[in-house]
Amino acid sequence: MDAAKRQQYLKAMGIDLWIDRNKASLDAVASPTLQTRMDVSDHESESSIAPAESAVSVAAARAPLIDVPTDWTGLRAAVKDCKGCSLCETRTQTVFGVGPEDATLMVVGEGPGADEDACGEPFVGRAGKLLDLMLASIGRSRLKNVFIANVVKCRPPGNRDPQPRELEACRPYLEQQIKLIEPDLIVALGRVAAQRLLASDAPLSQLRKEKHVYGDAKTPVLVTYHPAYLLRSPREKAKSWADLKQVSRLLASGSKA
Ligand code: URA
Repeated sequence: MDAAKRQQYLKAMGIDLWIDRNKASLDAVASPTLQTRMDVSDHESESSIAPAESAVSVAAARAPLIDVPTDWTGLRAAVKDCKGCSLCETRTQTVFGVGPEDATLMVVGEGPGADEDACGEPFVGRAGKLLDLMLASIGRSRLKNVFIANVVKCRPPGNRDPQPRELEACRPYLEQQIKLIEPDLIVALGRVAAQRLLASDAPLSQLRKEKHVYGDAKTPVLVTYHPAYLLRSPREKAKSWADLKQVSRLLASGSKA
């Protein structure tokens, strides 16, 4: 993607960047200038994302609570009719996920909100629009090469956090989606998704600093801010851009952890 187009996306995201015109690469979209301008402390900056693998970062391979179909058609049908927890009583419909079934990047959010519950697709509200811009800034989209899913497939009433038993009831669906997609990289958006995927109770600030792996396939996992949080805390967008550059680099390297 050319630098001018990227700058357009970043501007739409609310990130105003200085670009070195002599170096039009992704890396030339410079974080140091950005950090100075946006007065962002460096304790969670890009350089702190190290490819470390710790006990916390490796998701335990656990047996699913329920058997779920191992093919796409069966899995979609099982999610559609799921009555695995009480969220089925208040949902309008389930929100399975969206994107190509062979996507190289998988993005995992928390759970549907009101807009998603109404239309059956994840991330279609304001946070979704920001997510689409974030993905576009690294040349990605849900139409072409990103599968977007949530850790719970039904809307928690009042947009509260999903409860542990709801997360647990939905876990086999997400596990099976990941197995079917076999992405090169998973990006967890926000604390709830990150803690669930990584079977950890560490804070987001800590999880965001490391590269993790998920499951037997040791799929690399990066953790970044939820777009809804970025809408509330726009100053964190600089760090989120650092994370996106890391995502782009990892995908370009094509390497699994
Ligand atoms: N927030 C999420 O985590 N997921 C959605 O689908 C929408 C908003």
